[in-house]
Amino acid sequence: MSNTPIKRRKIVFGLAGGLLLSPFMDRNQAFAMGGMSMDGMHGEEADGSGYKGAKTLMPVSAMPSGLPLPKLPVLANRSRKAGVFKAKLVAAPSRMLLVPGFQTEALCYNSTMPGPLIEAYEGDLVEVEFFNRLHERSTVHWHGLAVPSDQDGAPEDFIEAGGKRLYHFTLPKGSAGTHWYHPHPHMITASQVYRGLAGGIIVRAKDDPLQAIPEQNLLISDLRLATDGGIPPNDREDWMNGREGQFVLVNGANQPRISLTGTQRWRIWNASNARYLRLSLGGHPFSLVATDGGLLGAPIENQTEILLTPAQRAEIVVHAPENGQALELVAEPYDRGAMGRLKGLSPRRVLADIDVTPGGKHFEVPAVLRPIEPLENPTGHHTSVFSDFVDTENNPENIYEHPTDMLFLVNGQVYDIERIDVEAKLGAVEEWTLVNASSMGMQHPFHIHGGQFQVIERSLFGEVTPEPYLAWRDTLNLLPGESATIRMRIDEPGKRMFHCHILEHEDLGMMANLMVSP
Ligand code: C2O
Ligand code: CU
Ligand code: CU
Repeated sequence: MSNTPIKRRKIVFGLAGGLLLSPFMDRNQAFAMGGMSMDGMHGEEADGSGYKGAKTLMPVSAMPSGLPLPKLPVLANRSRKAGVFKAKLVAAPSRMLLVPGFQTEALCYNSTMPGPLIEAYEGDLVEVEFFNRLHERSTVHWHGLAVPSDQDGAPEDFIEAGGKRLYHFTLPKGSAGTHWYHPHPHMITASQVYRGLAGGIIVRAKDDPLQAIPEQNLLISDLRLATDGGIPPNDREDWMNGREGQFVLVNGANQPRISLTGTQRWRIWNASNARYLRLSLGGHPFSLVATDGGLLGAPIENQTEILLTPAQRAEIVVHAPENGQALELVAEPYDRGAMGRLKGLSPRRVLADIDVTPGGKHFEVPAVLRPIEPLENPTGHHTSVFSDFVDTENNPENIYEHPTDMLFLVNGQVYDIERIDVEAKLGAVEEWTLVNASSMGMQHPFHIHGGQFQVIERSLFGEVTPEPYLAWRDTLNLLPGESATIRMRIDEPGKRMFHCHILEHEDLGMMANLMVSP
């Protein structure tokens, strides 16, 4: 096992701008100042990548919009055997034409952005041959799926540049849902994802109670382009807040047109590094039918908005308005506690226009979707505290080369690929308390590998709210000062990661290892 070479450097930090800005005292000082401006000026070589491209941002209007929503490309199944899904997945730099007249050097799976959709059934054997044609190591993580630990794309199981490996696992019963895949290499996950590496996974159940309803897939991702069409590296504020680009894309398209008629089931992914999506249809009601881990026990009717943190998924059922009135898919204002240029409420933005055609087929959502058994009698207990703070002192232990003077920690520690932080018993019900002790007022979305959990209750400043309904989740937002109690059972032995799914925070070390043993 070898890690990314670790370079130590000693930096003295100053707290010049209070909590908002504590510039580096060295070569990054200019950088920190550049990062505060709203016009998209970014500092130099934020990640030591030698980036020489433009630092000003492409206007959002430069990318064509208003085109019909592209369908997600589908990863072709090369197997002729029933119950086997076999495919090839190649990660490679790809020249994309996203803005007329400009080439964008992105990182793509099979030359598409987002990557091709994997569609399979519960019980299927999945065999994906992965080719790493990037210039650096990578892995593929199957986010949301309970796959064996050695198939999970953990950073220690990396594939070198130019290498390949076979991922193989069986999709367990109960895994039907809307999942996704993305790289998970040590400390370089964020940059591989924001350059384009992410794709959807749909696992279907043969007895899906909603299978008659027509479906649409909406995979939402985030992209930053400079005026030369390039994808600039992270700057200091990106490492602090998590990166948000100027583009929010749906199936890779800028503000496309969705066509809605009758009743439709929409699968929605938030595949962005750090952007929170408080989604609405401008007040038009819909039913929430599934969370990260698949269908709910019963639909939650008459919803007008859902919050999807980075990595979360939802499925909703939408009925076209009978009067044929057009709708919009909107990201409503939200304040996730970011700082600097992202401070405060994010502006409302329209992610897609929805053309409504009256007269389509109407479906009722069944009152019962599937049984969800509550996890009871926990035998393992653990508390994980997520914290962040500005490091105002000498920080010789800051082994990370990223330009931030903030520390992102789990139980007071930066991630160590070799360290086991928590132990659990195979198949036992674990009850964990997750605490967001952010000193900066930031929200952090908790994620754990290897299975789905149930939220029992949340508590904010002493006020305890029992979770209103049972649901399977793998990612949960934690407000500053909030703690949440979750229960889970991991049915595969081995090492698992849990971390904040703001990928910059994850890369900076807000991550820990769980060992599950018999
Ligand atoms: Cu989306 Cu550690 O994963
Ligand atoms: Cu995951
Ligand atoms: Cu975080």
